[in-house]
Order: sequence, then structure tokens, then C-alpha cells
Amino acid sequence: MSAPITPTRAAEPDADPRTLRVEGERLLHRLHELGAVGGTGDGGCCRLALTEADRYGRDLVSTWMRDLGLEVTVDAIGNVVATRPGRRPGPPVMTGSHIDTVRTGGLYDGNLGVLAGLEVIETLIEHDVETDYGIAVAFFTDEEGSRFAPDMLGSLVYVGGMSVEEARDVVAIDGARLGDELEAIGYAGPTPCPGVVPAAFVELHVEQGPVLEQEGHTIGAVTEVQGIAWYEVTVTGQSNHAGTTPIAHRHDPLYAASRIAVHVRELCSKYGSHQVGTVGKIDVHPNLVNVVPARATFTVDLRNTDAGALRLAEVDLWRFCDHVAAAERVHIDVRRLARFDPVPFHPHVVEWVEATATDLGHSVRQLPSGAGHDAQMFARVCPAGMIFVPSAGGVSHNPAEHTEPADLTAGADTLLQTLLGIAGVVSIGGVPVGPGWDPVLDHPRAPEEQ
Ligand code: HGY
Ligand code: MN
Ligand code: MN
Repeated sequence: MSAPITPTRAAEPDADPRTLRVEGERLLHRLHELGAVGGTGDGGCCRLALTEADRYGRDLVSTWMRDLGLEVTVDAIGNVVATRPGRRPGPPVMTGSHIDTVRTGGLYDGNLGVLAGLEVIETLIEHDVETDYGIAVAFFTDEEGSRFAPDMLGSLVYVGGMSVEEARDVVAIDGARLGDELEAIGYAGPTPCPGVVPAAFVELHVEQGPVLEQEGHTIGAVTEVQGIAWYEVTVTGQSNHAGTTPIAHRHDPLYAASRIAVHVRELCSKYGSHQVGTVGKIDVHPNLVNVVPARATFTVDLRNTDAGALRLAEVDLWRFCDHVAAAERVHIDVRRLARFDPVPFHPHVVEWVEATATDLGHSVRQLPSGAGHDAQMFARVCPAGMIFVPSAGGVSHNPAEHTEPADLTAGADTLLQTLLGIAGVVSIGGVPVGPGWDPVLDHPRAPEEQ
């Protein structure tokens, strides 16, 4: 008698990573929970770098990371990295952003990139996904730079663009020393900088501008970050009596500063469509109604996608300062706070974000970033890129900052699939992944598309 035929288990269909999606509700809940830390009562939040509010935000996100069983490291400048290992040893594929905010911060700037990265990893854990490369999510110290300049300070130190010693000696706009504040909140960590160079870096961020919304796109495949130049300008004149001093006898630093501020705005029309200029901060001494000021100190933020045009805008500004100094007989000192040339992202990563978003059924376009981001620092050391989602009304650095939940989820799904394509997927729930995947930067194609 022939042996009974044991029914072979119907061959499991190959697991297909492209079916994986994030839990949008869980992401949204965490965004609001983190947004309540340093909440400003008007829908926004204020967690300036290395303040108590920043510490509470760091503690909350680090707890979420540890609750997922991730290996969490804190480095010498306070960058926090949580890693889920993959099959192969060696550097992970990294995502992340920042959780420090400006004083009029919203819920999504930076926070989305960190919490979407956490959501991606939680989704992989839930579906028992084994990846080829590990996947890490990080938040970096002082991305905003508005308390301690320059911006992207933590990721700049992570990639070796600034020493820990130099960074720890940076003095805040309120006079505090960065190293002391880092110790005070307990985030001067043991992990050395520069950090482990990841296999690749992809950051999800709100666009903070009007383009995607105006054109009706859900996803932005970011091609580059524009150049950034920050300066502090101190104009010294002569304080005098507001009533008795004839105009011709005045050396009024605030009048000089005001003329320069107007020039910062007007020069933008001369250096191309992307040129922008901002005077965002000004301090006057003695700042009294009946005193011609002694001193005016203000900041200038110039940006352009074109490195040469940015340089010309700077020269234009300094020549105008010389002109005003001579005319008003005041003295002008300039201190550089930040200076980064435009940074292109890796073309493979840009194309691949675009292909992934398209495969997910989202309308996508390529565009440059007007804001600085941690990803621009990683572009110095590994293939890097960014994913944008729309900002309502193009508004950011404002409590009214908003992105529709469906767009947040679309961005997180695009991040999930983008990271999986780079990291490669070995199995899902123990079921091997089919042959249609080539994990090294080639977009995964269904077998019939081979
Ligand atoms: O200023 C910027 O572009 C960023 O928000 N740090
Ligand atoms: Mn940001
Ligand atoms: Mn910002």
C-alpha cells in the first residue's frame, strides 16, 4: 500500500513587504502627546533646545523607544539613537529629525520625522519583519539653532562637522553655555561623536512652505537643501537725549539697523527667485522711550539655493552696512552664527522616494527645501534624502502649523516603504520575502514588472 500522501502545506505566498502600512492613529496620538510637552495653550509648543521642556520631551520619546525594546544610545552632544538590529551586522539605515522647537513651535516640525520613524519600527515589530540592514530612529540636539547657533548643531557634531568641545562651549542667546545645559538636563551621554555612519539616512518632515498644498501633491521628494547664512550684527552709536539732540548730531544705531533691515528685504529681489532674507531678532540698549539708543544688535538670515547668488547677497549686505555706518557715523561689528552651502541629496534616494510614493498611489513632485534639516548633515557621509508632506497654508514656526492626518500617514507609509527598500526585507512573520526585491537602493518591483 502506498504511503498516505501527506498534504503538503499549501505553499505560503511569498511575503510581500509592500503591503505593510503604519498605524496612522497611533502616530497622531503620539504627535499630540509630545506636542503637549511645553504646550503654549494656542495649539503650539515651545521646547527650546536643552531647556526643561526639551528634557521632558526627550524623556518621553526615549521611554517610547525603550518600551519597544530598542537599544537606545545617548551621545556626547545629547543625540539619541534607537536601533532595531537587522540580519547583517554593521551600520543601520537611519531615519529621524529633531524634537526641539522654536519659541512659537507647532506639533509637526521635526517631531513628525522622529515619531514616524518610531512608528515605522513599531510596525516592523508588530508584523515580525526581519530586515537585512538594521533600522535606527534618532533625534538630534538643537536642530533649530534659535537658542544655540548654528542650527543642525547636534547632527553636525554627529557627522564630525564640529567638535564636541567646540559645541559644548557655544553660548546661548540667554547667556547659558551649551555644555552646562546639556549636563543640567542629564543628556551628556557616553557614546562618542562622530557617530556610526549609517548605511543611508532618510528624513520625513513637513514642507513648511506652500508648494505641495498649492499644487495638490501629497508627497515631496526633496532634491536639496538651500544654502544658509546667519549673522549677528551689532551697531554701536551714541546714546543721547531724545528731545535735545538735533537730528544732524545723532549717531542712532537703531535708525542704522532699521535701514539695514529694510535692505535685507529689498536685496531679495536681486538674487533669484529662491533668495530670502530675514531680520528675526533685535535687541536695543537701553531700550527706553526718551533715549536715542546706544546700541542695536540684530540677526540676519539669508538663504538661496544658488551658492554664488547667496555669496553675492552677503557681499551686497556688507557693502550696504559700510555705507550706513559712514552716513550715520556708527560702528558695525558682524559675527557669523551659521554658514552652510546648498546641499544636494543622493539622486538614487530622491528617485526612489518618488517611485515609492507613486507606487503607494500618492501624487509626488521633486522640490528643494527652504529650511535646514538634519538630513543635510548626513548627506556629507552617506546617501541621504528627505520626504515632505504638505503644510496647511505653508505655515510653520507658528502654533497654527498643521498637516492633515491623511497626509501624515501618507508620509509615514512612504518613509516605511523607503526604509524597507534600502534596508531590504528577509522575512515577514517567518515567511521569506519573494524574489522581487533587491534591497540595495533599487526600487522593489513586483515580479511581473521584472
Ligand atoms: O532654520 C531652519 O531652517 C531650521 O528650522 N532649523
Ligand atoms: Mn525642522
Ligand atoms: Mn524648524
